[in-house]
Amino acid sequence: MNKTLKTDLVKVSHIDDLSSQIGKEVKIGDNEIALFKLSSGKIKAIENRCPHKQGPLSQGIISGEYIFCPLHDWKIDLDNGEVQKPDDGCVKTYPVEVIDDFIHIRV
Ligand code: FES
Repeated sequence: MNKTLKTDLVKVSHIDDLSSQIGKEVKIGDNEIALFKLSSGKIKAIENRCPHKQGPLSQGIISGEYIFCPLHDWKIDLDNGEVQKPDDGCVKTYPVEVIDDFIHIRV
């Protein structure tokens, strides 16, 4: 039996419409996603909701490959969504693909 999960690749933004180090909120169906272009040029997409008290992570501060929640400063790894100690939790991350300068998110 084929157990491959069915996912959709959704075009969300032109790469030039994303400012470096500034989050952008995008919505795909019920998914609210925070999109970031890091200073390294990498693009990251995570759930736009902090596991602490639902802070909007798209408005957080980026440092390296981490986002700091704008409400109470929890530090979250943009690669795997894990909250860093001493806090605890995890947010969903989404695979990103850039095709012909357009950012696509797999949901
Ligand atoms: S809501 Fe994000 S740290 Fe409190």
